[in-house]
Amino acid sequence: MSRRVAVLISGRGSNMVSLIEAARGPDFPAEIALVLSNRPDAGGLERAREAGIATAVIDHRTHPTRESFEQAMDAVLAEHGIEFICLAGFMRVLTEGFVERWAGRMINVHPSLLPLFRGVHTHRRALEEGVLIHGCTVHFVVPELDAGPIIAQAAVPVVPGDTEDSLAARILVQEHRLYPQALRMICDGSARLEHGRVIFSGPWSGEGALRSPA
Ligand code: GAR
Repeated sequence: MSRRVAVLISGRGSNMVSLIEAARGPDFPAEIALVLSNRPDAGGLERAREAGIATAVIDHRTHPTRESFEQAMDAVLAEHGIEFICLAGFMRVLTEGFVERWAGRMINVHPSLLPLFRGVHTHRRALEEGVLIHGCTVHFVVPELDAGPIIAQAAVPVVPGDTEDSLAARILVQEHRLYPQALRMICDGSARLEHGRVIFSGPWSGEGALRSPA
């Protein structure tokens, strides 16, 4: 059964594109039924339209409160029969009410190995701390920012000479692999949220360790 998914964006939407492409695969358990942006100028909107996906803009600046902004989002999500939400570079903090309504059905990609480096400027902070392994995380969204139960992570080495940009680019490649994989897992039920923890089922293929320097 194909689940109806909305991708929420605020910017260029490269993760959105990776989700759209993955969902076109014949056995993918979800379809991207809507791309919703809080910014009318988000580059990703054009890319979604080119891909033939329905788009909507709900400009938060036209709403007096977070609640009214989110009610407008809920109305559009309901109109499109949305069952799951992927936040993909969506840069608005969501209220507890919205998050609770979508509990277990809303996921986010974050550019660090959580619980390290919640919030913004993750690559700059990773370089400042001198970590040698960095990465990205897909997690269920909970009211506390970047604190939700972890569904999937990918790690990359930090190498001499790295800058914020080089690290961001190395990690983005992994985000594009990881996010569709995590969406598949929540849509086919092989990762689900129960009592604040992720319960995994199905076969497990991972083994080995990642070392940096290798
Ligand atoms: C991605 O790197 C994503 O992990 C990050 O924004 C970028 C969006 O890129 N998200 C956050 O920092 C959320 N706190 P994209 O628009 O090309 O997908």
